Amino acid sequence: MPDTMFMKERMLITGGHALQGTVHISGGKNTAVAVIPATLLCDEPCTIENLPDISDVHALVDILCSLGAKVNYEPNRFMTVDPRPAEGWQVSYRDSQRLRASYYLLGALLGRRGQAEVYQPGGCEIGSRPIDQHLKGFRMLGANVEQMGGRIKAKADVLTGTDVVFDCVSVGATINVMLAAAKAHGTTIIYNAAKEPHVVDLANFLNSMGCRVKGAGTDVIRIRGVEKLQSRRPYAVIPDQIETGTLMIAAAATHGDVTICGCIPTHMEALTAKLLEMGARVEERDDAIRVRSIGDHRAVTFKTQVYPGFPTDAQPVLMAALLRSEGCTVFVENIFENRYRHVDELSRMGAEIRVAGRVAVVNGVRTLHGAAVKCTDLRGGAALVIAGLSAEGTTRVTELTHIDRGYDAIERDLAALGAQIRRETT
Ligand code: UD1
Repeated sequence: MPDTMFMKERMLITGGHALQGTVHISGGKNTAVAVIPATLLCDEPCTIENLPDISDVHALVDILCSLGAKVNYEPNRFMTVDPRPAEGWQVSYRDSQRLRASYYLLGALLGRRGQAEVYQPGGCEIGSRPIDQHLKGFRMLGANVEQMGGRIKAKADVLTGTDVVFDCVSVGATINVMLAAAKAHGTTIIYNAAKEPHVVDLANFLNSMGCRVKGAGTDVIRIRGVEKLQSRRPYAVIPDQIETGTLMIAAAATHGDVTICGCIPTHMEALTAKLLEMGARVEERDDAIRVRSIGDHRAVTFKTQVYPGFPTDAQPVLMAALLRSEGCTVFVENIFENRYRHVDELSRMGAEIRVAGRVAVVNGVRTLHGAAVKCTDLRGGAALVIAGLSAEGTTRVTELTHIDRGYDAIERDLAALGAQIRRETT
């Protein structure tokens, strides 16, 4: 019997194959990790469809079960959550650390029970990632919030709707306050709200249960709290924006021709514009995008911004596609101060990249060569896979748990498009 404690997985990629064909997109990670905690606000069983089969979703299933909810989860089919028996309000240190989005249990449990205890969340180490705006929002709704030894306790006899003005645009804080406000007395108005598609998807889910959320997708969101939420029909989460982007970039990086089906092209405008600037061809249909690329790519300039600007989550992945471009590409990372940890790994493959603070400069090289590299974070891991697809020789990628948090078997999709890629246990 193998000793599984010491078993590790790695991905082996032999580059140089242009990706060709059609691929379907999974449900969105960042929307799934908000919608699943939101089921705790419902007063009857509810069903969610189109969830991606990723480790963040599995972690949330464990957390809901530990709180006492009954969960029936069939990966890639549906998840039914009966929150009625959930008496718990504490998330353990271990579970809190399993994913970034464990912080959504604060808002969801405050809304459900007026009480929550969660530890500082885990997730990618891409900056200091404070959650002060989340906690400020809870306090404004009337909660008493304490932090001690990494533990966050929030308690409210009554949550009362009010104006919440964020000091910075935060996806997490916007979603967390929406969750807490869904069952508050009166109306909460969030100013300087995030506009990301997953914020809109959460609003749609809450509204499908009878909540009254207006303005999601703009920077002012109004949430009128309701006493009871009821599930009327199964809710399907939107397709994953970053998985779509990763496959668009993979098509361009390998000079392939790939049609990505089941996506929402309007969510991809910022990336599409950059791929066109680089010289790739992008055609959009109602729910599909075709990306083709023939010649060398032109170097471009990027600044990551909040939606609808260029997404920080796509920065590492697009960097991988520009390592062999003509000229010098400049990246400015405005969202997270430590989001270039993949750079050292890409350099092992022959990339020429210099980093100074929030700026990275990529000097295009003629060839990349396969190397042993390790994932430093979720999107940085995807960048190594993309670089491996366009490198000469074989790339060995380790620390795959980062990738598995957010991609629903990316190697399966890439292999179906003709990539030489496989996962093996060592
Ligand atoms: C979410 C996404 C992540 C994405 C990021 C930016 C999820 C689970 N994760 O992360 O994939 O990269 O949005 O699009 O949806 N900030 C504060 N105080 C706060 C909250 C945030 O200063 O209370 C700052 C952060 O340090 C960062 C910026 O605001 O500089 C944006 O962070 P935020 O939008 O909150 O990111 P996350 O919700 O952590």
